[in-house]
Amino acid sequence: MSGLKRRDLIGGAAALAALAMVGATAPSAFATPRMRPGAGSAPALGLADRAVAASVDARRALTHIQHLAGRIGPRIGGTESEHRAADYAAARFEELGYQVTRQPFPVADKYLADLVLPDGERWQASASPQGSFDTEVEAAVVDVRGGGVQDGADYAGRDVTGQFALIDHRTADRDAQVRGAVERGAAGVLLVAASSSADRKAPAFLPTLTEPVGVPVLGLGQAHGEWLRRRLVAGPVRLRVIVTAHTGLTSYNVLAERPASIPSDDQVVMVSAHYDSVPGSPGANDDASGSALCLELARVLRRLPTQKALRFALWGSEEQGLIGSRYYVNQLDDHAAERIAACFQNDMVATSHPPADLYWLLSVDGADNLATATVAEAAARLGYTADVAGPEARGGSDHVPFHERGIAAANFSWRGEAGPHLLEPVYHTPEDTVAGNISNTRLQVSLELVGSAVYEVARAR
Ligand code: BES
Ligand code: ZN
Repeated sequence: MSGLKRRDLIGGAAALAALAMVGATAPSAFATPRMRPGAGSAPALGLADRAVAASVDARRALTHIQHLAGRIGPRIGGTESEHRAADYAAARFEELGYQVTRQPFPVADKYLADLVLPDGERWQASASPQGSFDTEVEAAVVDVRGGGVQDGADYAGRDVTGQFALIDHRTADRDAQVRGAVERGAAGVLLVAASSSADRKAPAFLPTLTEPVGVPVLGLGQAHGEWLRRRLVAGPVRLRVIVTAHTGLTSYNVLAERPASIPSDDQVVMVSAHYDSVPGSPGANDDASGSALCLELARVLRRLPTQKALRFALWGSEEQGLIGSRYYVNQLDDHAAERIAACFQNDMVATSHPPADLYWLLSVDGADNLATATVAEAAARLGYTADVAGPEARGGSDHVPFHERGIAAANFSWRGEAGPHLLEPVYHTPEDTVAGNISNTRLQVSLELVGSAVYEVARAR
């Protein structure tokens, strides 16, 4: 069992204590073959590893996650929330001296709702395009469980006239559930997503309907439903719901480049992540973590001597089907595609979910390529081999368009030992937060692994 597995990975005080250790020992640890934080074996580091692995700092990356997932919150492709995140990332890259471009591309309309709680807290849900939108409704919440469709008793003694009906969503009954609430005079319908598996909470969802209704209809994440019910036990809850149709949207990829300092082969190494998230989720691990990793590596790699150029890419609208990365790869001419030595995609690189204790090398075809092989080599040099698994075949992230174009690409991510399908229970939910789903130790290991591998490729070869 490796050091990482033994370590308490839950956030908060334990993680801070672990980081204090990293901080205290990082620069000097490289003078002696001291173990890396959470490593299973002693390191055998080259000079280049020392320049990168001793300098990357999860605490700095954490400030970026806090900004993206904490201050901005959900970052929905093409909306103002994603634009704010793009501005933040572009400003950080520019401060570091990178040449920054924003690449625009069109994306589909979004129907979103803000739920404002009495204490000012704001939650996000998806809204039905067949319900009313561009409107604001304030009302109390009445819990009618199954919405009376299977058992009329759900409404017994409960008057929803002019109130929000809170209903446990059943996909097959959705239209009847909404109709029943509207016929009883509800001012709005809050459908709570039902969990399809015991170990995963349900995300917010888009509740499309077969016919239009005259009130807002929202698809809430299961966690938001649970939180609402907990508050209802304590007393009445009034909500302000603001529903907005976002149309004619433009999403952006944020690209940041620095040239080779000793140009040799006209090649470029790419390091990437997606900075958008799904509706209702702050997306701290998915994928503010990867975005923050890119920003921190950009800091450390900005002035190191390289023979290849370095290009960071933060993809927009990944969550709607890899739209940003596909757009980017499609507009590359053959020469530009051939210049890319490898693309290192970082998606979900810091979860604190204890069972996700393996760092997976995920290529689309499961084969080794320059990205997976150099990270595996970095793991061996840094003493992390026992923490790393793969290569294993897995798509579902922005490495896919690169692979399809014949470019060496892989996604890197912490997952369970049984396989990369074992994601944390809060994946895509309102509980993917900095406090609940970020491990500083795992973030540090991710930074060291990808940082060392990227520098290895960029430096020579
Ligand atoms: N980070 C997630 C999930 C993921 C799973 C990435 C496995 C890499 C490997 C990603 O943002 C996501 O949600 N992907 C979607 C597909 C995408 C095309 C919308 C998924 O895997 O369901
Ligand atoms: Zn993701």
